[in-house]
Amino acid sequence: MDFCKKVALCAGFANSFAVIKLEKCSMSIDRGTSGNSMADLYDKCDKFWDRIRKLMGEHFEVGVATFFREFPVVNCLPEVVINGETHLQVATNDYLGLATHPDVVRAATEVVETAGVGTPLGARPLTGNTSMHLELEAKLAAFRRTEGALVFNLGLGAMTGTVACMVDRGEKVFVDKYAHGCISDGAKLCKGEAYWFGHNDLEELEDQLRKCPLDQPKMIAVDGVYGMTGDLAPLDKLVELKHKYKARLFVDDAHGTGILGEHGRGTPEFFGVEDEIDLHGGTFAKSFGTFGGYLCGPQKVLDYIKFVSPGFVLTKALPGCITNATIKSLELMQSMPERRVQLWKNLTVLRDGLSAAGFNIGEPQGAVTSIFTRGMTALAAVKLLETKHKIIVNNVMYPAVPYGTSIIRITASALHTTDQMQRLVDAIVDVSQETGLLASNEAASLKANSPMLNEELS
Ligand SMILES: Cc1ncc(COP(=O)(O)O)c(C=O)c1O
Repeated sequence: MDFCKKVALCAGFANSFAVIKLEKCSMSIDRGTSGNSMADLYDKCDKFWDRIRKLMGEHFEVGVATFFREFPVVNCLPEVVINGETHLQVATNDYLGLATHPDVVRAATEVVETAGVGTPLGARPLTGNTSMHLELEAKLAAFRRTEGALVFNLGLGAMTGTVACMVDRGEKVFVDKYAHGCISDGAKLCKGEAYWFGHNDLEELEDQLRKCPLDQPKMIAVDGVYGMTGDLAPLDKLVELKHKYKARLFVDDAHGTGILGEHGRGTPEFFGVEDEIDLHGGTFAKSFGTFGGYLCGPQKVLDYIKFVSPGFVLTKALPGCITNATIKSLELMQSMPERRVQLWKNLTVLRDGLSAAGFNIGEPQGAVTSIFTRGMTALAAVKLLETKHKIIVNNVMYPAVPYGTSIIRITASALHTTDQMQRLVDAIVDVSQETGLLASNEAASLKANSPMLNEELS
């Protein structure tokens, strides 16, 4: 990987959802504009805010204030206290409620008490490889039914690095437009050619694949569950395409793992194609309730990635306390199916309630439920849900969703009750009257088969 790409990779790590445009490196140096004023490296900072200000118009102050708010450290329980008031929280991704499970906490505490917080120091290839990391990798590989697994410090690093390192010069990668920014960044950073196809648009994907020689190495890269829409990649059909066009299939199942499939093995299990996925990526920062990421696949690939992917080889090892806690949460994920059952009960009450009230929520099959709106309506509704009903849900805007849309993004957990879901539905119906949410949702839904389909992310 050349220097410029490494630098851009770091930029990508720092900003998973901004759509980063990578310019090819050039030896010529631009000394500024031809006029008197010199261009400055920092100009882009002002330009960024000018663009956001224009985009958000009168909503700028309120919209920006929804980001980087101060939250309590325990932010993932169904009820959280903000400014002394108890709020119903439906905005984090602790889908199975494992982040605060006593066994997970104990597993971390045991390590902290005996070994410290950040230990082991050092990168995995040198001093940072411990029996805990190896145990977690062995257990993950068994869970994923792959030859091996690698544990990364971030899901983002696992995905970006894998796509960037696996797709070389003369090779191709085909990415769903709604795939998480970390996959797209990997595609932008790789030395091969990258193509994006419309969200779940298999015809467009097949057109792109058809134009690529059969013997040219290629990767199809998708999310198992799309984090903004909650719908699934049709893995069964993607497996057919990968066979037909001799591609490798990489699935980032950050949002599906622990949630989907009879045993919680995620979107591949749900579709019955676990053994057909070439590379499985994921994060521990959602249903595992801890921190870090992973890649599972053939040992041959892992032995390569672990020497060439900067996000693995050039960084300190995941702390032992997190590693040990993740071993425990992986065990609980498999031994507590009742958590999955409760989560799905909650999702059913929530989705049935919203649909009965007339909302179009698309076709979510993962644990994310989104109400699409045109313009900034979601922002007003989210604000009112908090001030009037003491309910915290997420407002998501461009560039995480297409320009001109915003969504109310709801992520329930297994710790919620169905009564809490009903309270949420009632509150959404109530704020809809003041904010025009239902009409805005309808306007958004009139666009194609889904409000967000066929719109460019940039
Ligand atoms: C689909 C998907 N992949 C990867 C990531 C990144 O994972 P991590 O937070 O572990 O870096 C996320 C996080 O939002 C995600 O939603």
